[in-house]
Amino acid sequence: MATSTKTKKPTGKTGKMQNSEFHKFFIDELKDIYWAEKHLAKALPKMQKAATSPELVAAFEKHTKETQMHIETLEQVFELLEEKPTAKKCDAMEGLLKEADSIIEDTDKGTMIRDAALILAAQKVEHYEIGTYGTLRTFAENMGHTSVVDLLQQTLDNEKATDVALTVIAEDFINEEAASE
Ligand SMILES: [Fe+2]
Ligand SMILES: [Fe+2]
Repeated sequence: MATSTKTKKPTGKTGKMQNSEFHKFFIDELKDIYWAEKHLAKALPKMQKAATSPELVAAFEKHTKETQMHIETLEQVFELLEEKPTAKKCDAMEGLLKEADSIIEDTDKGTMIRDAALILAAQKVEHYEIGTYGTLRTFAENMGHTSVVDLLQQTLDNEKATDVALTVIAEDFINEEAASE
């Protein structure tokens, strides 16, 4: 029976982590979500303009401001890690935002279908962000970057709250439609 395990568990508690491949990977992924947030901040006002229901319009307006905060929070993360905040193109967010664009192109203003499709597009974005921040937070934890963990957690909590808010709008929306039939 083997007494030792051959698989090395990366603890990241040593100073060596700073120069490790994993640290580089972590920074790269931060640059990726930095790009994603910056582009989302530009896309959300377009989605807001395209929406009809006052609740959805307000939700987009609120999340535009929050997204601006996510950008600033990431800049703090870069600072703590002594890295320059640079954006690296995020193909996933580009695709999600393209989808949002085609929804706007393919639907008419003032229709229920457009609002419903905008909610769907927005929730896909939130889930992408939740997945990203959740994993990055865990990586930061493993690496012992406590202050970075707190900052990423803060944004993660906000993305989750946004997702819940969008679900509530979606539910109210369907109920209203059903009531008007
Ligand atoms: Fe965000
Ligand atoms: Fe978000």
